[in-house]
Amino acid sequence: MKISPSILNCDYTDLRAVMRFLEDLHPDMIHLDVMDGVFVPNLSFGPPVIEALRPLTDLPFDVHLMMQHPDRLIDAFAKAGADSINIHVESDAPIDETLQHILDLGKKAAITIKPKTPVEAAFPYLDKVSMVLVMSVEPGFGGQSFMHDMMPKVTALKEEIRRRGLSTIVQVDGGVDAATAPICAEAGADCVVVGSAIFKTDDPVGLVSIVHGN
Ligand code: DX5
Ligand code: ZN
Repeated sequence: MKISPSILNCDYTDLRAVMRFLEDLHPDMIHLDVMDGVFVPNLSFGPPVIEALRPLTDLPFDVHLMMQHPDRLIDAFAKAGADSINIHVESDAPIDETLQHILDLGKKAAITIKPKTPVEAAFPYLDKVSMVLVMSVEPGFGGQSFMHDMMPKVTALKEEIRRRGLSTIVQVDGGVDAATAPICAEAGADCVVVGSAIFKTDDPVGLVSIVHGN
């Protein structure tokens, strides 16, 4: 699987050191969790912080928008340096138009489903998005426990993607660590987001290689 480390639980007093630490682990992308305090009960950061991070790495920025009306800020996130822009199906955005807008800006489009959202909610967008994200925690906070019962959604998505002959990848986000990453792989996930685990472990290299399957 690919790995997309999330900086949500990093040391915000030294983002330069955080990016250097992550770069040394050779991840596939960096996951940036944007929260608006409305769609989820927490606030994180927005385009100015992403713009500040942009010169610090060449790794692709996988921007996860946990916000209402993500449609209103797509241009700002694209300009700030997002490579992939991920919106929630549960948000107030007109989903089809917003995904098209992301694509028109030359960025990859992605869609996320929350734990209580049925997997079929993502099906109408599978041919438009590069990635579908299955949340394995309620969005809003890092460091929560992995919801094992989300794995059938991953398998169902992979089946539907294969049935349609698409190359859309399936990502899992929330509570992924050395113990739960193999469970995601088993379910068919192509990519996992790893937040607090990457900063807490004594062996981040080992964790990355578990995810990569080496
Ligand atoms: C949750 C975020 C996740 C999360 C990952 O709302 O979307 O990206 O911070 O952190 P861990 O791996 O600690 O669950
Ligand atoms: Zn996330």
